[in-house]
Amino acid sequence: MKRMMTITLLLMFVITLGFSTTSSTAGKCMTCHKEKTSGMYKQWLSSNHATHNVTCFDCHTAKKGEPDAFKHEGAWIATLVTPKDCGRCHPNETKEVSESYHAHAGEILDSKDAYLAHVAGGHPIAVVGCETCHGSKVIIDERSPNKLSKLSWPNSGIGRINPDGSKGSCTACHTRHSFDKAQARQPEACAKCHLGPDHPQKEVYEESKHGNTYYTNIDKMNLDADKWVVGDDYNVAPTCATCHMSATSTQKVTHDVGNRISWTLRPPVSKRKDNWEAKKENMQDVCSACHEDQFVENFYYQFDGVVRLYNEKFAKPATEIMNMLRKNGRLERQASFSNKIEWVYWELWHHEGRRVRHGAAMMGPDYAWWHGMYDVAQNFYFDFIPEAQHYNDPDVNAYIEDLFTKHPMHNWLNRPTSELKEEIRSGELQKVYEGMFEEQE
Ligand code: HEC
Ligand code: HEC
Ligand code: HEC
Ligand code: HEC
Ligand code: HEC
Ligand code: HEC
Ligand code: HEC
Ligand code: HEC
Repeated sequence: MKRMMTITLLLMFVITLGFSTTSSTAGKCMTCHKEKTSGMYKQWLSSNHATHNVTCFDCHTAKKGEPDAFKHEGAWIATLVTPKDCGRCHPNETKEVSESYHAHAGEILDSKDAYLAHVAGGHPIAVVGCETCHGSKVIIDERSPNKLSKLSWPNSGIGRINPDGSKGSCTACHTRHSFDKAQARQPEACAKCHLGPDHPQKEVYEESKHGNTYYTNIDKMNLDADKWVVGDDYNVAPTCATCHMSATSTQKVTHDVGNRISWTLRPPVSKRKDNWEAKKENMQDVCSACHEDQFVENFYYQFDGVVRLYNEKFAKPATEIMNMLRKNGRLERQASFSNKIEWVYWELWHHEGRRVRHGAAMMGPDYAWWHGMYDVAQNFYFDFIPEAQHYNDPDVNAYIEDLFTKHPMHNWLNRPTSELKEEIRSGELQKVYEGMFEEQE
């Protein structure tokens, strides 16, 4: 008993000592920053981190010799708090983020669109545009007081390449310094990046029944709840997080946003993802909290049909024509993107074609049709094809001639309206598209 007491007392002494040394360094950060950056201090003060005694120094601490470490008011700190730093206390989230597609988003520097930003735009816009969403490669500048180059900081891109080798930035979704779960569960947390002409997920969500129901019932979403299981803790509507990340009664929260999607809708021609059947089931499990299975199956039947229609009717022929023009050496100028047809083709798949697919995937009919397939068709028939024909390449001309006279999806161009209307009424024309509802390869 006496021995126990001694140990307990000793332990208490060690804890008090440990606590008072860290809290003096940590305490100084707060006392001074309360004056110097009061907004930031208050963001932290109201956070769950402050409640759990996670201080400025716990996150910003650094070891002397680390590439981004600098001495600040007597302590070694770093301005960056990377996924690796958060991972000291949140190892699971950090592991999932590092294995997700998001973590690769900073590797775009060699991609076709980065090329476009550099030639058609120029370096400053690559920094402020692409890299602000995708993430910069953080450059160390020994002359800068915080060691970070002005060209790469500030940046909170989703796939930022950090000096410690980790990828991404947790603040991309978790706004500092509140790091509030409720905030990340709302669609706005994704909306800095997932919007616009080439990936309008935010706009699609807003027009969908899910979005309308969410925005008219936010107070019923139970966003502050500790656990947030769809169907148990809330039920009025799903958000981006609900479908792509949050827990169901059988799945845990995941920070790997690709875990529930079966297609990649990004490239000119959509492809199935590895292991797509299991990923589709993961998503269907989310839906099943609020819908019955047959409803969900039928939704996928319709969505998959649109993806294949876009692939077969427009994406594959347009890509084939571009390949022929390049192979036959027809483009006037050498550099990629220096010819008008390359821009026309690019908008066909990268903007309009993505809008069709994203509209269909997330129940936004206006994006699927008016901002989507309508634009694809108009571009294909009245911009892309005429642009291709102006090269007068015999192979290309023969291919287009064939497409417009023989291809059952395109030969309507050369037939009378009355006959086509008759075929629509009888269901004959719809039969041409039956195959679109079936898995291809
Ligand atoms: C004596 C006051 C004082 C103390 C103590 C102090 N800071 Fe600061 N800190 C400042 C001021 C002033 C700035 C610059 C603010 C500005 O320019 O708006 C700053 C800047 C910073 C920056 C940004 C540096 C940059 O340029 O990117 C970080 C991060 C930071 N402090 C964290 C801390 C941490 C962590 C502690 C505790 C170890 C701490 N501070 C202690 C006053 C202080
Ligand atoms: C939970 C971890 C965490 C805590 C606690 C924390 N920070 Fe930060 N802080 C971050 C992250 C993350 C960033 C963004 C850096 C990045 O993108 O890597 C940041 C950025 C900053 C910056 C520079 C950015 C800006 O907007 O000016 C300052 C200064 C700063 N923190 C000071 C503080 C101070 C002072 C405290 C305590 C009152 C504090 N931090 C507490 C994680 C934290
Ligand atoms: C020193 C340990 C520590 C570090 C470092 C740390 N956290 Fe935390 N974090 C905690 C604790 C403790 C809690 C509260 C208990 C819990 O919810 O797990 C928490 C809670 C959270 C929450 C939930 C907040 C809420 O609304 O309930 C988020 C989000 C979070 N942390 C993100 C981060 C991010 C992002 C970083 C890095 C920028 C980070 N944390 C760094 C310890 C830490
Ligand atoms: C507003 C934020 C934002 C900006 C600015 C932005 N992107 Fe993106 N980018 C995204 C998002 C979000 C996706 C993923 C879309 C999806 O999955 O539907 C993406 C996808 C991509 C892809 C496809 C990746 C793949 O694996 O198929 C490439 C390549 C790309 N972007 C490069 C760039 C380049 C280069 C720039 C600058 C010229 C740029 N982006 C500007 C947000 C942005
Ligand atoms: C793509 C956006 C996104 C990014 C990036 C992100 N998070 Fe989260 N995080 C969320 C969402 C959404 C939730 C809320 C999930 C829920 O409760 O339904 C969450 C919840 C959390 C929680 C609370 C625990 C929980 O499971 O509810 C912690 C801790 C956390 N994130 C840490 C991190 C860390 C650490 C990083 C960086 C390595 C990170 N997050 C990056 C979106 C993100
Ligand atoms: C800071 C920008 C940014 C934020 C914030 C962001 N994302 Fe992303 N997201 C991207 C980029 C960029 C890509 C494409 C990645 C690439 O090109 O490697 C992407 C890709 C994705 C993908 C496709 C994954 C795959 O495997 O194909 C999903 C799903 C996704 N994001 C969901 C979300 C959700 C949900 C949120 C909010 C909770 C969110 N994102 C927040 C930038 C962002
Ligand atoms: C009702 C559920 C649901 C909601 C809400 C939802 N999504 Fe999706 N999302 C899907 C489905 C289903 C797919 C397609 C899945 C597949 O390929 O199997 C998808 C696909 C995606 C993709 C991949 C696109 C690509 O180009 O490959 C991204 C990125 C994405 N969603 C982001 C978001 C964002 C951001 C929000 C909120 C603004 C959101 N989602 C809201 C269900 C949802
Ligand atoms: C949190 C509950 C919830 C989840 C989860 C959910 N939905 Fe819904 N869904 C709704 C509500 C509410 C409506 C609107 C019902 C109405 O029209 O009255 C709706 C409507 C729909 C509609 C009809 C759209 C229209 O314009 O008529 C489709 C299709 C749909 N959901 C598919 C899905 C799919 C697929 C998933 C999973 C990827 C899913 N939902 C996940 C609640 C949910």
